Amino acid sequence: MKEENIYPIFDRMLSREDKEALLGQRGVMLWLTGLSGSGKSTIAIALERELHQRGLLCRILDGDNIRSGINNNLGFSAEDRVENIRRIAEIGKLFVDTGIITIAAFISPSNELRQMATRIIGEGDFLEIYVSTPLEECEKRDVKGLYAKARRGEIRNFTGISAPFEAPEHPVLSLDTSRLSLEESVNALLELVLPAVGKRGEKI
Ligand code: ADX
Repeated sequence: MKEENIYPIFDRMLSREDKEALLGQRGVMLWLTGLSGSGKSTIAIALERELHQRGLLCRILDGDNIRSGINNNLGFSAEDRVENIRRIAEIGKLFVDTGIITIAAFISPSNELRQMATRIIGEGDFLEIYVSTPLEECEKRDVKGLYAKARRGEIRNFTGISAPFEAPEHPVLSLDTSRLSLEESVNALLELVLPAVGKRGEKI
């Protein structure tokens, strides 16, 4: 055999298992879906802090770091929403494959979109969490003033007003932030996530 046909072990990329062993955790995707203003990003941020305090490495993907950057050429047509979620899922997969607890906070308004994300990331690594805060509550909060604009017809295709939102059929967890405090939502998530990533949950 010629020497160049030998592929020694040090030529290969380290595996997901190598990274997970280094980190002492399992990679997973926590996919938060729900209306604009339902509390997805707030929950993601609070959860990340709790996990971090327990020595777990996380990465949040949300509109701030995705729609303003890699996806800044995408709008809110049905077509663009597919591309938005496809890229997010592909990026998320890279993090999960690095052993990182990845928290995605996007409306992802249809079963089809969420199924695509599940397919890309892999069912075994994908936890679908429905932030089920009702539309009335999201509209009442109207943190960004977008619901008022959508009602006035100044924003087209606004989810919940002039574009559809399909509730997930079998989320592993539903969190209605009009009924639950932030702490209650985060605690429910910790109960789900800590066993899934292989930590008992003591803070460091
Ligand atoms: S998704 O439908 O493609 O998954 P994504 O979560 O990335 O949506 O972005 C939603 C955020 O974009 C909303 O929270 C809101 O701030 C803003 N936004 C601007 N226009 C729209 C619109 N037409 N529909 C929904 N959200 C919009």
